[in-house]
Amino acid sequence: MQTFLLTPVKTVTALFLLTIIHFCNGILNIYLNTQEVQKLLGLEAELFYVRQGIVNDYALNFVVPIPSKINSLHFTWESLASKPLPYIIQIDTNDDEALEEPKLNITSSGLIPTYTQVFSLSLQCTGIVSAEVDVTISINITVNPDVTALKLKRKKICTKIESAINSQAVDAVPIRTSSARIFYYAVVCAFVLATTSIMCVAGLYVRRNKQRRTIDETTANQSYSAFLPTAIRNPTTSSSYSSFRRMPSYSLIEDRPSPKGLQERIAELTIQRCRVCLRNVVLEGTFSRVYQGTYSSEGGTEEEVLVKTVTDHASQVQISLLLQEGMSMYALNHPNILSILGVSFEDNSAPFLLYPLHNYSNLKVFLQRCKICSEGVAHTLTTQEVVDMALQVIEAMHYIHKKHILHKDLAARNCVVDNKLKIKIADNALSRDLFPSDYHCLGDNENRPIKWLALESLINKTFSTRSEVWSFGVLLWELTTLAQQPYVEIDPFEMAAYLKDGYRLVQPINCPDELFAVMAYCWAMNPEDRPTFLQLQVCLKEFYMQLTRYV
Ligand SMILES: *[C@@H]1O[C@H](CO)[C@@H](O)[C@H](O)[C@H]1NC(C)=O
Ligand SMILES: *[C@@H]1O[C@H](CO)[C@@H](O)[C@H](O)[C@H]1NC(C)=O
Repeated sequence: MQTFLLTPVKTVTALFLLTIIHFCNGILNIYLNTQEVQKLLGLEAELFYVRQGIVNDYALNFVVPIPSKINSLHFTWESLASKPLPYIIQIDTNDDEALEEPKLNITSSGLIPTYTQVFSLSLQCTGIVSAEVDVTISINITVNPDVTALKLKRKKICTKIESAINSQAVDAVPIRTSSARIFYYAVVCAFVLATTSIMCVAGLYVRRNKQRRTIDETTANQSYSAFLPTAIRNPTTSSSYSSFRRMPSYSLIEDRPSPKGLQERIAELTIQRCRVCLRNVVLEGTFSRVYQGTYSSEGGTEEEVLVKTVTDHASQVQISLLLQEGMSMYALNHPNILSILGVSFEDNSAPFLLYPLHNYSNLKVFLQRCKICSEGVAHTLTTQEVVDMALQVIEAMHYIHKKHILHKDLAARNCVVDNKLKIKIADNALSRDLFPSDYHCLGDNENRPIKWLALESLINKTFSTRSEVWSFGVLLWELTTLAQQPYVEIDPFEMAAYLKDGYRLVQPINCPDELFAVMAYCWAMNPEDRPTFLQLQVCLKEFYMQLTRYV
C-alpha cells in the first residue's frame, strides 16, 4: 500500500505506483523543498510526504537524522482545494535535557493556505548532554468530514558543548547524514524491487551536489559515523549515475583515493543473479536466510560466498535495513573484517548480499557447537586461543575506528570464524532476526542488543569507541563461556538499573583472573575509565606471551 514519488530537479520524473491512497483527491501537498533535501541529505531533489493528496508512506516512515549543526527544519505545504484546510500540529520529543523546546513559526492550529507556504521548526540543542533525540511531528488535517493524521519523524543529534574542546570521542555522537542518504536510496531501491509493474526506469539521474558540508566540522573531526563519514568531510566534485536501481550508496566513498569512477565502482558491486548459485542454508530466521553458495566471476573463476537475503515475507523496511546494514562495512580492507563482495538485484525478488567466505562459520554458532562437543572428546578452546581470537577482534576494531566508523553491535553473532580460528568482524545485517534472543525492545520499538550495550548506550543511545570497548568485554566473556547468554537471569528492562548498581557479568569457570580483569576493566561505569583498544592490545599481547612462555 505504498507510493514513492521522487522528483529530482532537472530530470525525468519517475513514478512508481503500487496502490494509491487518496485521502483527499488531489487536495494537498506536503513536502521538503530542494533546499531542505539538499541540506539534510545532500541531494538535489524534493521529498514529498503528500503529493496531490497521495500519501507517501515510505517517506513518512523514513526517520531523517538531523546533524547537530542544523538548528531548523523547513516544511512546505499548500492546499490544492478551493479553500484553506484546517490543521492541528504537535511536536513531541523524548529528551528535553539535550534539546530545547522545539518552536514552530506557525500556530499549533490553523489553516493550510491555498498558496505555497514554508514553515520552520527550530531544534536547538542545549549543549548540556550528548544524545540522539527523537522528534515527532504530528499533523492532523481536516478534509470534511475526515481527519487525516500524519506523523513525520526526525532524529536530532545533539553534542555536548565541551566535547568540542576535548579531542577524544568519548561524548561523540555519530553523524548519520551519510547513512540517511543510504537509507534514502535504500527506500527507493526497496520500493523499486517491490514494484511488480515497472514499465520503464526513465534514465533518472540524480545530480550529486558539490556542497556536501552538511555536517558540523568540529563534530565531524572528532566523532565517528556509523557509515562512511570521510565522504562528508571531503567534498568532492560532482558526478552522476544513470540508474538508481543499482545500490547508489557508493557515492559515499567518492573521496577515497581511487582512480576509478563512480560508475565503475557501482558496476563492480552489482552482480548478475545468474552468477550466484545458492547451495545450503546455513542460518535461518523468520524472514532471513543465510546461504552458502558460489559466485562465478566473469573471468570464469568460482568463489565460495556467503549470501544474506530475505524471504518473500520480509517487509520493505526489512529489505531497506538489510541493504543499509549490509553496506556498513563496504570497501573496508582488512584481514579481520568481512566486507561485502557484491549485491545482486533481480526484479521482483529480495536482494542478495554476497560476502567472500570460505569455510567460515558464525562465531556464536561455532562457540555453541564447541560447547556441545566439549562434553565429549572434541575441541575446547584454550585460554591461549581465546586471547588470540580477542586480539584479532581488537585489530579489526582498531582499524574501523581509524576509518571513523563505529560498529555499534559488536558481539559473537556478528563475527565469523574459520577452522584455524581466524576471526573476521561482520556487519549486523539480519542478526536481529537470526538471533532474536540477543535483541530486545524496551518499549520504544527499537530492537537493540541490550545486554551488549554500554551503560551510556543503553540509557542515552550514545556510542563512542569506549562504548565499543564495553561490547568487546562482553564478546570476550562470550568467548570464554562458549557463547552463553549474558545476564540470562536479568530482565532487559532491569538492565540499566542492574548495571548502575554496579553488577556485572560473573567470572566464567576456567577463566583466568588476568583475563577476567580485562573484561571487568571494559565495563567501567565511566567511559573514560575504560581501556582503549590500543591498551587492550598491549595488555592481551603481554598476557599471550606469558601463556606461550609457561604452557
Ligand atoms: C490527531 O488525530 C489522532 C486520531 O486521528 C489523535 O489521536 C491525535 O491526538 C490527534 N493529534 C492532534 C495533535 O490533535
Ligand atoms: C517561517 O520561517 C521561515 C524561515 O526560517 C520562512 O521562510 C517562512 O516564511 C516562515 N513562515 C511563516 C509562516 O512565517
